[in-house]
Amino acid sequence: MRLGAAPRPGELDPIERVSRDELMALQLERLQWTLHHAYQNVAKYRQKFDEHGVHPADCKELGDLAKFPFTTKQDLRDCYPFGMFAVPRERVARVHASSGTTGQPTVVGYTKKDLDIWADVMARSLRASGGRPGDIVHISYGYGLFTGGLGAHYGAERLGCTVIPVSGGMTPRQVRLIADFRPDVIMVTPSYMLALLDEFDRQGLDARASSLRIGVFGAEPWTEEMRAEIEDRFDLDAVDIYGLSEVMGPGVANECVESKDGLHVWEDHFYPETVDPFTGAPAETGELVFTSLTKEALPIIRYRTRDLTRLLPGTARPAFRRMEKVTGRTDDMIILRGVNVFPTQIEEIVLRVPGLSPHFQVHLTRPGRLDVMTVKVEARRSLEAGTEARAAAGEAVRRAVKDTIGVQVEVEVVDPETLERSVGKLRRVMDKRDT
Ligand code: DLL
Repeated sequence: MRLGAAPRPGELDPIERVSRDELMALQLERLQWTLHHAYQNVAKYRQKFDEHGVHPADCKELGDLAKFPFTTKQDLRDCYPFGMFAVPRERVARVHASSGTTGQPTVVGYTKKDLDIWADVMARSLRASGGRPGDIVHISYGYGLFTGGLGAHYGAERLGCTVIPVSGGMTPRQVRLIADFRPDVIMVTPSYMLALLDEFDRQGLDARASSLRIGVFGAEPWTEEMRAEIEDRFDLDAVDIYGLSEVMGPGVANECVESKDGLHVWEDHFYPETVDPFTGAPAETGELVFTSLTKEALPIIRYRTRDLTRLLPGTARPAFRRMEKVTGRTDDMIILRGVNVFPTQIEEIVLRVPGLSPHFQVHLTRPGRLDVMTVKVEARRSLEAGTEARAAAGEAVRRAVKDTIGVQVEVEVVDPETLERSVGKLRRVMDKRDT
């Protein structure tokens, strides 16, 4: 696989070259400011800190953060729409919102300075991905209330790139623009990248011959197997970007193209912890929790992301800790007859079976008293319907799921291009148990 070049030291932000001790000193100073700012200006934080018996002055070292209460999505919902803002509404330069599938959307806000920092960390992320000033960047993350499009956009402009703000959808046009404008970089969800791949085939174009050198993929979980698939089919470097609207948007953490070994968290602005999702106690592998360190409009204290991962020491940026690729969200976890199953585990298995494509869905039903999980996976074109080879591929998935995860599932290998494609974030699990 291609391994793009590391930036030269002179290309990095000065903060990317500090020592861990220098970074931690900066974090403490910023954390203390954030706790005071939140307490003084947001009624919800004041109430929660008071109930918890803690005061911002109790934070004397970074470890003291653990004394403060968590913030959850429900807290933001309780304060819908603007009640969590720590600055007067007039100072809020932009609002984004995450589409709540249930209940209200979660609203987030940014001052001009917040937007400036966001563009900086996104530019840093894009450079870590292998992008350079002067590159042409094709952005297929959705523009609008979702943070993906505009977040990527201003970061790419900040780095000095030529930005093509395509947004999601109109797949044939996306491929035509890639062929005509010859971008170096694409920023898109990994699942939509697969839909673009189908369209390359449909238009008779060779994806490996495209101008794309780098793909910056995030907004949903994806596996090493999916990285290998995309890198091979497009002949590019596929790099992981992570973020969430409550903490900022894309650009909270990013992989470095030269190491591709997990995502460096930009800890000068976002302080990570991992906790046991059930007890909230510190845990080596667990739910990721973030505290913002510089945000003005929406300071966020110990936000429960529901994303599961592990923190590791820095490599390509030694002062910054890395997070492992997110395996899933606590709320994506399927509990099937007592066994925990994540869609990413199925993705790993499916992509290891020759003849099967990365397009699959997990259907949950309850025909009798027990839950049944059916994996529907598309065959590649080489694997024809009705053949023994197709049946064997399905059986290989069924056996691997039984052996590695420990549950019985049903597997249906379906024809190419029969499962729904995503335009933005992919929905893998179809839960029909209550209908
Ligand atoms: O998805 C921000 C984003 C846009 C990130 C574009 C990367 C690229 P939300 O809509 O608030 O924000 O959704 C955040 O998406 O808590 C994770 O569950 C998931 N997620 C985001 N990036 C990754 C990733 C944007 N690289 C939620 N790997 C997060 C796995 C991811 N999951």
